[in-house]
Amino acid sequence: MSRSYIFVPLVLFVLVSCLPAKAQYVNVMPYPQKVDLQDKHYFIAKDFTIALSGDYRPRLAAQATRFLRRLDEQTGLFFQQFQVDGSGYKEANLKIRVEKKGEVLPDMKEAYELTIDDGGLHIIADTDIGAIRALETLLQLVEVREGRYAFPYVQIQDAPRFSWRGLMLDVARHFMPLEVIYRNLDAMAALKLNVLHLHLSDDQGFRIATETYPELTELGSDGLFYTKAELQKIINYAAERGIRVVPEIDVPGHATAILVSHPELGSADTTYQIQRYAGIFDPTLDPTNEAVYEFLENLFEEVAAIFPDPYFHIGGDENMGRHWDANEKIQAFMQARGIDTNHELQTYFNIRIEKILADQNKITMGWEEIMTPDMPKSALIHSWRGAWEGVTPKASLYAAARSGYDAILSNGYYLDLMMTAEEHYLMDPAPASVDLDDEARSHILGGEMCMWSELVTEHTIDSRLWPRGAAIAERLWSAEEVNDVDEMYRRLSIVNQYLERLHLKHVSEPKRILRQLAAGHDPKPLETLLEVVEPMKGYTRNPGGTMYASYSPFTLWADAATADARVARVFNEQVEAFLKGEALHESLKTQLITWEANHDQVVPIIEDSPVLKQISNLSANLSEAAKSGRVALEAIVAQRELPAEWVARARKQLVEARANGGRTELQMLEGVERLLDQVDYRRSAQD
Ligand code: ACM
Repeated sequence: MSRSYIFVPLVLFVLVSCLPAKAQYVNVMPYPQKVDLQDKHYFIAKDFTIALSGDYRPRLAAQATRFLRRLDEQTGLFFQQFQVDGSGYKEANLKIRVEKKGEVLPDMKEAYELTIDDGGLHIIADTDIGAIRALETLLQLVEVREGRYAFPYVQIQDAPRFSWRGLMLDVARHFMPLEVIYRNLDAMAALKLNVLHLHLSDDQGFRIATETYPELTELGSDGLFYTKAELQKIINYAAERGIRVVPEIDVPGHATAILVSHPELGSADTTYQIQRYAGIFDPTLDPTNEAVYEFLENLFEEVAAIFPDPYFHIGGDENMGRHWDANEKIQAFMQARGIDTNHELQTYFNIRIEKILADQNKITMGWEEIMTPDMPKSALIHSWRGAWEGVTPKASLYAAARSGYDAILSNGYYLDLMMTAEEHYLMDPAPASVDLDDEARSHILGGEMCMWSELVTEHTIDSRLWPRGAAIAERLWSAEEVNDVDEMYRRLSIVNQYLERLHLKHVSEPKRILRQLAAGHDPKPLETLLEVVEPMKGYTRNPGGTMYASYSPFTLWADAATADARVARVFNEQVEAFLKGEALHESLKTQLITWEANHDQVVPIIEDSPVLKQISNLSANLSEAAKSGRVALEAIVAQRELPAEWVARARKQLVEARANGGRTELQMLEGVERLLDQVDYRRSAQD
C-alpha cells in the first residue's frame, strides 16, 4: 500500500527542506491552489458586515447570510447586522464582487480570489458559485490571535483541479431521510464538492415515487421513498450551494425492487421479493422484451423531468446474466441476432437506453460495464472496479479517456470499505506520471466518493462519510502536489471538528452509541478501547453478505467504530519515532499503562450490557498486548534483556489479538510488535 516505499532518494530530503514549514499551511481543506500568507491579522468585531455587488443569483445573498450566522456562532460576537445593501458597499468589512450569474451545470465556474489586508476582506469571482466557494474558505481561515477571533492576512487564488467532485449516496440499501441529505449537502458545500449522485434504486429498494408507476414504491420500498416534491427540495437545497444532483436508476441488473411490482419485465418466470441481504443477485430486466423499453422510457421521462442536470446514471454494473442464460426466449433472441455473449446483450440494451435518454435530452452515464464498442462517445464512464474485482485500478478510467469518453473515478473512493483517509487521499485520478495525452487527460472529469449503505443507516452514515470524505474532496480539488499525508491528517482533525458546526453526527453518534452500550456506566473505558479499533475492512465485516440484513441492528460496537483509529495511528508513529531516538518513552508508557488497566474497567460494563459480550476478548487482548508493550518498552529503556521465550509468548498473543471482536480489529498491535522486534534485535546484537 501507500507507505511501502523501500527507499527514498536522498534528493527528496533536500527538496523537502525547501518547502514551507508546516506552520505555514492554512487550516483549509481542500487546500487552495495558491496561498500567500502574511503574519498580520484582521480582527473580527461585532459590527462585521458583508456587501455584495455585480450580477449574481439570489443564492449568494442566502449563502452570505448563512456565512454570517456561522461566523457569529463560532465567535460569539453577536453581530449587529446581517448584510448591507449596495449603498453600504464601501464601508463593508467583506466586499464580494461577482461578474455574472452562475449555472449549476457540469461546467460551472468555481474560481475565486480572496484577499485579506489593510483594506479589509475582498472576494472576487466570475460567478456567485465561485463566491460561495470563497465564503467556505474564509470560514475555515478563522483563528485566534491575542485572545480574539481573526482572519490572517492572505491572498488566495483558487480553482478546482477537477470539475466533477462528487458524492454518491446509496439511498436504496438504507433510505436516507431529507434531513440527512441536507446536512450532508452542507458538508459537501464546506468541502467544495459539487455533485450529489443519488443511487435511487437497487435490489433492496426503489426510492422515488412516480405518477406513472406508483406501484414501484408501493411494493418496492417498505414505504420509504422520496416524493417528487421532496426531490425538488433536495435539488434546490443543493443548487443553493452550487451542487448538482444526478439521479441513478440501476438497470438491467440490481433490479429486484423494480421487479417486485413488475415481474413481467424480468428475465425469469417468477415473482420477486425485496432483497434483504447484500451482494450481486440474479433478478434482471429482460432486454428482449419491448415492454421493458416502453416502461423505462416512461419512467425515465418522469424522473428526468425532476432533475435539471444533463446527466442520467443508468447503473449497468454487475449484471451476471444468469437469468438470461436460463431463459430460452432470450437465448433464441440472441441466436437470431448473432449476439454471442451476455455482455453483448447488455450492450444492445444499453444502446437502446442511451437513445431513449438522448431523446429526453439527457447524457447517459453508467458504471464502467457500459463501455462497449458501440456505446456512443457522448456517454460518461464511471470507473469503479479495482484490485478487489481482479482488475487494475483505474484501467477503465484510462481506457475510457483514451478512447474519447468522458470519465470519472470511484475506485479508491469507496468509503463503505472502511479504509483509512490516507489510502483514499493517495488515489489520484490522473497523476502527471501516467501516460495520457492532453486530449485523454481532458476527458478525466474527476471522481465521486461512494457511500454504499448496506451497513449504514441514517444515523451512522455521517461517521462513515466524514472526515474521510474531506481527504477525497481535497484530492479532487487541490493540486496533485498537495499530497503530504501527515499534513493532511493534521488538517483533517481540524476539519473533523469544524464539520460538527454543521450539525453533522459523525462525532456525536459514535459517542451516543457508546453511551447506550455502557448501560448507565461511565463510557470512558469503552471509549479508550474504541479509539484503537477500526471496523473490519473491505467486505469482511459482512461475510457472504448475509451476516447482516437490511433490518439488522446498526447500533452496536462496530457501528460506533470509525475507519481511522487516530489514537492507534499516533501510538504506532510514536513507537517508530522512539525507536529512532526521540524521547517519547514516558508518553508511550502512560498510554500502555492506560490500555493495560482498561480491561478491568470494561468487564463490569459488559456484565450489565450483554450486547457487549462480543468485545470481551477484544478488550482483554488490548490489555494483554499493552502489557507486553509496556514490559518491552521498560526493558529497552533500561537496556535490559528479556528472555526469548517471553518474547515468543508475547508474539503469540499478538497474533491472537488480531482476531476481530464485535466486527472490529485492534490497530495498535503494530507498535507493540515493533517494540518486541527491538527487544529481539538487541538480544541478537548481544549474542
Ligand atoms: C458498484 O460498486 N457495483 C458500482
